[in-house]
Amino acid sequence: MKISKRLRFIINEIENDSIVDIGTDHAYVPIAAMLKGKIKKAIACDIKNGPLEIAKKNIVAHGFQNQIKTRISNGFDNILIGEANTAVISGMGGFIICDILNRAKNILPFFEQLIIQPQNNIYYVRKLLHANGFAIKNEIFLYQQNFYNIINAHREKDILYDEKDYAVGKILLQNNDTLLKKFLLLQTQKLLHIKNYNKEADKFYKLYMEALECFVQK
Ligand SMILES: C[S@@+](CC[C@H](N)C(=O)[O-])C[C@H]1O[C@@H](n2cnc3c(N)ncnc32)[C@H](O)[C@@H]1O
Repeated sequence: MKISKRLRFIINEIENDSIVDIGTDHAYVPIAAMLKGKIKKAIACDIKNGPLEIAKKNIVAHGFQNQIKTRISNGFDNILIGEANTAVISGMGGFIICDILNRAKNILPFFEQLIIQPQNNIYYVRKLLHANGFAIKNEIFLYQQNFYNIINAHREKDILYDEKDYAVGKILLQNNDTLLKKFLLLQTQKLLHIKNYNKEADKFYKLYMEALECFVQK
């Protein structure tokens, strides 16, 4: 099974041998994680029947029907406490992910690790993770026809973040990530044209410029 660079990086971040994959679609994440020996069991969930049927076929084709169970679930709604130690939520918009996290406040504290890959609005996802007692232990920024952030979060309360950290990623800044610098230069050029009549654009323009100054100082 050939999987994308994005999914390979997501799988590399898995640190526990049981996962729940929220919005599994084709079930590539749990199947590839099994093939790599990263996990022993998984629950592959989706809100829709169509993707789950495809997931089931792929799981059976790889002979993992005893290890990977499929389940219809809106976010974590049909997941029980203790069923997995890592949750993966990838390939969805940031606001959908925020909604899923907001609806899961009772079960989130029981996960040791969350691996989150929002397609956009990452500022709000990072902020919500922190508000729910998760700190970003690692973050990967990659380009494959698009920019992707992969967030590896653990339960931890004592990390301080400022607005710039939520907007661009504290770890990426600390690592002086060169791809992040390119991204920030591109984004500031785009935002420059709209920031005077769009408050949100102005906010992110300022935060991105502040982040770029950190690069200059290093
Ligand atoms: C673009 S696919 C991403 C598939 C895979 N996670 C990946 O990263 O490639 C998004 C999947 O999330 C599912 N989905 C959307 N909202 C969901 C929700 N609230 N709960 C569970 N699954 C959801 C969709 O049905 C779809 O199959």
